[in-house]
Amino acid sequence: MTITWSAETHEWHLANGRTSWVLRVLENGWIGLLHAGAPMAVGPSYRHLGPADFAGFDNRVGEPVGFAVPVPGVGDFRVPALVVENPDGSTVLDLQYRSHRIVAGKPAQPALTPATYCDDAAEADTLEITLIDALTGVTVVLGFTLFAGATVVARNMQIVNGGAERVVVRGAFGTLDLPDADWTLVTLSGTWARERAVYERALVPGRQGVGSLRGGSGAEHNPFIALRRAATTEDACEAWGAALVYSGNFLAEADVDAFHTTRLRLGIHPDGFAWPLDPGAAFTVPETLFAWSGEGLGGVSDALHGIMRDRLARGPWRNKARPVLLNNWEGTYFNFNHERIVEMARAAKDMGIELFVLDDGWFGRRDDDHRSLGDWVIDRRKLPAGVDGLAREVKALGLLFGLWIEPEMVNPDSDLFRAHPDWAIGIPGRKRTESRQQLVLDMGRPEVVDYLADSIGEVIASAPIDYIKWDWNRFITEPFSLVLPADRQGEFFHRYNTGMYELYERLTTRFPSILFESCASGGARFDAGMLFWAPQAWTSDDTDAVERLRIQWGTSLGYPVSSMGAHVSAVPNHQTGRLTPIDFRAAVAMFGVFGYELDPTAMPASDREAVRAQVSFYVERREVLQYGRFLRLRSPFAGDGNETAWMSLAPDGSRAVAAHYRVLQHPMRSRDRLRLRGLDAAARYRVTVWRSFDAPAGSFERGGDDLMSVGLSIEPPEPMPGGIPNDGVRFLGSDFNFRLYDVVRL
Ligand code: GLA
Repeated sequence: MTITWSAETHEWHLANGRTSWVLRVLENGWIGLLHAGAPMAVGPSYRHLGPADFAGFDNRVGEPVGFAVPVPGVGDFRVPALVVENPDGSTVLDLQYRSHRIVAGKPAQPALTPATYCDDAAEADTLEITLIDALTGVTVVLGFTLFAGATVVARNMQIVNGGAERVVVRGAFGTLDLPDADWTLVTLSGTWARERAVYERALVPGRQGVGSLRGGSGAEHNPFIALRRAATTEDACEAWGAALVYSGNFLAEADVDAFHTTRLRLGIHPDGFAWPLDPGAAFTVPETLFAWSGEGLGGVSDALHGIMRDRLARGPWRNKARPVLLNNWEGTYFNFNHERIVEMARAAKDMGIELFVLDDGWFGRRDDDHRSLGDWVIDRRKLPAGVDGLAREVKALGLLFGLWIEPEMVNPDSDLFRAHPDWAIGIPGRKRTESRQQLVLDMGRPEVVDYLADSIGEVIASAPIDYIKWDWNRFITEPFSLVLPADRQGEFFHRYNTGMYELYERLTTRFPSILFESCASGGARFDAGMLFWAPQAWTSDDTDAVERLRIQWGTSLGYPVSSMGAHVSAVPNHQTGRLTPIDFRAAVAMFGVFGYELDPTAMPASDREAVRAQVSFYVERREVLQYGRFLRLRSPFAGDGNETAWMSLAPDGSRAVAAHYRVLQHPMRSRDRLRLRGLDAAARYRVTVWRSFDAPAGSFERGGDDLMSVGLSIEPPEPMPGGIPNDGVRFLGSDFNFRLYDVVRL
């Protein structure tokens, strides 16, 4: 057991040798948080880390005390974890310790709540503490799950109305109280085509954070935040990471009080949220994952990557090699037919690609983005043999077959909208704001979910489909549910999200072997909640390799490489117009779930040859690239952003693939060495350098100590343009340089 309870000191200690959380029943019956973070010896009391004899706030109102579940209006004026409106309209609760249990493993969550889980009870232990407010009967069950061998604690909370009258949950968060504020807050922010850029700000007194009121987690901010010390690097010094396992409106913030303590909180955004609980009813608060590391931001990422990849993602694809795909979107947009797709698939197969994905445009009269969303009926003009006939032909070539859907949407110009205009979200009497000529269906209505489960289920069942790309191309405006009374509109967004999860649950249950990839105008719903159903997500519509360095770097702070769809597309790039060499594009996309997004029939033979070499390079190293430990070496957010480097390391340390990228070339560069990480200092390695995928540029032997402490020289004689002799090194273009290093233990 990694969790101990001392009846004498009333302390719980969650400790697995790598991290510790210490909680205590305070004298007034509330639960105090004495410590979270660095591992501490089990046995001693840590009571001195909290207030002595805390009987509630009295004389010193507002003095910081670390709590497990802070509530408003009782003397702690920082942001609360739980706001429940009582029958009398007040929001004060006196949550008294009632009981606790320590269980091996992790109790299952209600079906539609995405959350981490255990395959075996030995993987984690869970502390469940039950608290009761005597006056109202409001009961709170707090869950703290510590995973063995990982520095992650999953926080859960269930609120049960044990009273005789209705109460309303107005805010519910996973919180973490830290004793100081010498932290820099790291957030991932951006917009369409530049998702999850890294932003940092030193904490100051007050509230600072990010959130979404868009109905989905959004591209603008991500429900992942981190804290780092000034001295924290990728592999040294303290850091925290926190991820919310939820895909809807969220708030993730740090609140620094007058005494410079920090409270982190992550949860459903409280603006507009209200969840009534009738007597006996319960509400499950989204799970929060808190990861501590004494080994830098990289340590936080390691911990979260492992949990999300292995114990949040589910299904047969969870740890399985993901196929190299070709998606026709940028290759054809809406302009395709059966023959053209088969031709593309044939060319894809010829280059070694394993999965063909048919994107938007196969249904209704979808010749552009003005119509047909909602009409999940095959367009026989384009596909006379149906999706089934097409899928069979593609599969006969030896490829897997995938299909795009966007279930939650409807175009006003669609049969679905004409039949059920009331299913689209909007407020009677008010104009509905359109975006991409589409409206959003009210997923909070069971009949909408039923219709989608049936109509989309029918299409999927009609053909041998291996993969589904589930898109979501606009945010929600005029939020309102026609089926909820006026005093229950505060449920709208959460019900939407739960309905979306329900549809995912039904389709993934009905088609258990299908690989689902989530998407939202690129990466606008890239969050831990989605990973529960879809183990991979389209990272961004921006496929420009230079932009992708930043997007993939930022995303990797919180999310595993196995979740990041990354494709090579044609040039000029459709988002930036930039021209980059095809091998540079591939060298970037390979540090993700690799694929292509172009028309292979339009490529010159030399490019097709290049793709063949790229695919075979990737497939040979797929295990380490998709499931290895991802280590960030050089940040595109540092300095002038001209360089990026990272590596993937096999879990047993026997092999790694490292990459260095330089966007623009500068003359007469200074000496530079790229230090690798995570290798065995005592071992010898063979390093093979690749500067294109057709053949290695050279190879040599080095010690792990040398590779990590001194580093790889990244300044061998550079190829020079203009006919200047270049020692036989193939000229690759002076800008957009990359080197890949295969590092194999001898
Ligand atoms: C979104 C997705 C794209 C593509 C289009 C289709 O923008 O992110 O990859 O599927 O929709 O309309």
